[in-house]
Amino acid sequence: MVNRIRKAVFPVAGLGTRFLPATKAMPKEMLTVVDRPIIQYAVDEAREAGIEHFVFVTGRNKSVIADHFDIQVELEMTLGERGKTKELELLHRDLPEPGTTSFTRQQSPLGLGHAVWCARDIVGREPFALLLPDMLMQAPTGCLSQMLRAYERHGGNVIAVEEVPHDQVGSYGIVAKGEEDETGFRITGMVEKPKPADAPSNLIISGRYILQPEIFDILSRHETGAGGEIQVTDAMLRLMETQRFTGVRFDGKTYDCGAKVGFLAANVAYALARPDIAPGFRAELRDILDRYDMALADSE
Ligand code: G1P
Repeated sequence: MVNRIRKAVFPVAGLGTRFLPATKAMPKEMLTVVDRPIIQYAVDEAREAGIEHFVFVTGRNKSVIADHFDIQVELEMTLGERGKTKELELLHRDLPEPGTTSFTRQQSPLGLGHAVWCARDIVGREPFALLLPDMLMQAPTGCLSQMLRAYERHGGNVIAVEEVPHDQVGSYGIVAKGEEDETGFRITGMVEKPKPADAPSNLIISGRYILQPEIFDILSRHETGAGGEIQVTDAMLRLMETQRFTGVRFDGKTYDCGAKVGFLAANVAYALARPDIAPGFRAELRDILDRYDMALADSE
């Protein structure tokens, strides 16, 4: 029997410089995909996988994230008075149970590994999930739920991976692949943001992890790696000396909302997956593309 995964960590301290000026006064995690903030999708995925406690590692200017996961009394009163029961239900559906969220601040931007380490006291000595909210993972069964199968079989640590074109490996953590069974494969190595020539594969670490608490002991050494930052990938490589890591190929589509094209594509894909929006939106999209292609042909 493996220990159940009860807690999930969401690092949300990043500055979001790639989305300035939108992120000047608003956290990038609150940018909307259709009509929900990006962070909500990751929280929903965690909840679907049975997570009971949501740990947010925030930074300055991020308090609106805590507000988002709280009751907005005036708003609810007004909606109630106006008989807007559908909207009220929508708000309640997304609201975590009282006492199931924790917020801590990463005081300095020292890297993802440092952000995760900031959650150590709240997580305690139990395995936990780590979700990078920038990566929106669209699938009928959420990515974390998919990973639990491998976790129940192998225990230890589990990472979601997926293939990317070789010229993109330098933007991600990359794993090396060992023997495989029907739940996943043994990870035999990993490297953060390698040069394409040094990458052991084109399988990226795609932003969902199940980790054992010993990762905190390694992160507490504050060793820096790629980009001069404290990296989760380096700490995991260390932990791999004594613990198993299993790679799970995510069955679905990932949108990297840390980049503009990924964020825009996510909006299109999630809108097309919504029965209330898809029909009208699809027609608009066709029209936009037709007009764009025609203008392009004219200019050639
Ligand atoms: C982080 C991780 C990297 C992972 C990526 C997924 O990098 O360090 O291993 O592949 O997230 O988005 P970042 O995007 O924070 O540079």
